[in-house]
Amino acid sequence: MKTRPVRGTHDIFGENIIKLNSIREIVSKNANIHFYKEINTPIFELTDLFQKPLGEQSDVVLKEMYTFKDRNDENLTLRPEYTTPMIRAAITNNLLNELPLKVYGIGPMFRRERPQKGRYRQFNQINFEIFGSDDYFADVELICIANDVLKNILPDCKIELNINSLGTKKNLLNFKEALSEYFINNKKLLSEESKNKIYNNPLRILDSKNDQDIEIAKNSPSINEFISREAKEHYENVKNSLSSININYTENKNLVRGLDYYCNTVFEFKTNELGSQDTLLGGGRYDGLIDLLGGPDIPGIGWAAGIERISMLMKSNLIKNNEIHLAILDKKFKSQLLKLIQCLKDSQIPYFWNYKYNLKKSLSKANSVKAKKIIIIGEEEYKGNYYTIKNLENSHQDKIKIEEIGKYINDKS
Ligand code: HAM
Repeated sequence: MKTRPVRGTHDIFGENIIKLNSIREIVSKNANIHFYKEINTPIFELTDLFQKPLGEQSDVVLKEMYTFKDRNDENLTLRPEYTTPMIRAAITNNLLNELPLKVYGIGPMFRRERPQKGRYRQFNQINFEIFGSDDYFADVELICIANDVLKNILPDCKIELNINSLGTKKNLLNFKEALSEYFINNKKLLSEESKNKIYNNPLRILDSKNDQDIEIAKNSPSINEFISREAKEHYENVKNSLSSININYTENKNLVRGLDYYCNTVFEFKTNELGSQDTLLGGGRYDGLIDLLGGPDIPGIGWAAGIERISMLMKSNLIKNNEIHLAILDKKFKSQLLKLIQCLKDSQIPYFWNYKYNLKKSLSKANSVKAKKIIIIGEEEYKGNYYTIKNLENSHQDKIKIEEIGKYINDKS
């Protein structure tokens, strides 16, 4: 049997696990500042939770969900996104009694897409949501958190914020009808993929990457003709607030997002440093979704960011080789070793020992990971009741008593 991973999945280790942990730390710091509470939901849910809310004609539902029958014939799906499970969790745990509810979560999602750079079948998302506010300030707060999180993690990366408003659910319905009509009249010129979307998902033709589709979409009806006065006002307030806190944005009338539940404000943070999978973060309002899932009729807004894509842009010098290596030259020095380990633990000093009882092998391991120091316990140290600490960068070594070790290492590192 040849062991192999499932296509589109990847193991996270070494530098990437350090990056993942550092992303988690930055995310929870930002969440705490704005008082978002963490939620962790199961990775599988009843299929119904996703099918209608994400859109029966959306790519995710049509082609990408991992759905299977449980042994009792129940249809289950590995979560392809986090918004609907979070709403489900808020409803079933009665968390919507006090509004607004601000939550965040980090975890794996599953979509059966064609794997490529930045696109996987199991990937990790950061997710922030606000349930129960239609105030434009909620939009601004979430975009601001997204901006801060990305800036904190990727201070040197050029990232562009695109925003748009899709108007209310009703505005959007009228807009979709007009789009369908326009595309029916221009059907012959559309790509095969877009032809299939004319009736059920005409919005997605607007963000097609096919040159001919792009050309035709240029003269299609614009959401501006359908958007209500209140929706326009909401959008203007969002834009003015962003400008007042110096968050730059580009308005993109073709930004429609891939899931069906969106209306009003939608946004994406993109970079040109990743190739075709260039969206780091996307989100928007989803008024009506909580109601659709059996909760109260309250609005919601949120975003999700792809951890793998962010990780690819992070600097790769995060590994800190600050552990102290140990070289124990004989089994009879075990009691000195145990005392030493207790002392290192008390002083919060990370250490590594390779269980080899061989100076050459321990030194070679320490040098191979560019460790800065090694502590040696040999015959002389044993008899003299001290420890030799060798600086591997300049070969200087000192004889140190156990009581001094913590201070010595912490002072010199
Ligand atoms: P989404 O645009 O489908 O939105 O995904 C958000 C982000 O997840 C993308 O911008 C991308 O960085 C990452 N992502 C998506 N698919 C993959 C993949 N196959 N491989 C790697 N990364 C991927 C949502 O999921 C919405 N639930 C966001 C949201 C939250 N809207 C409101 N609240």
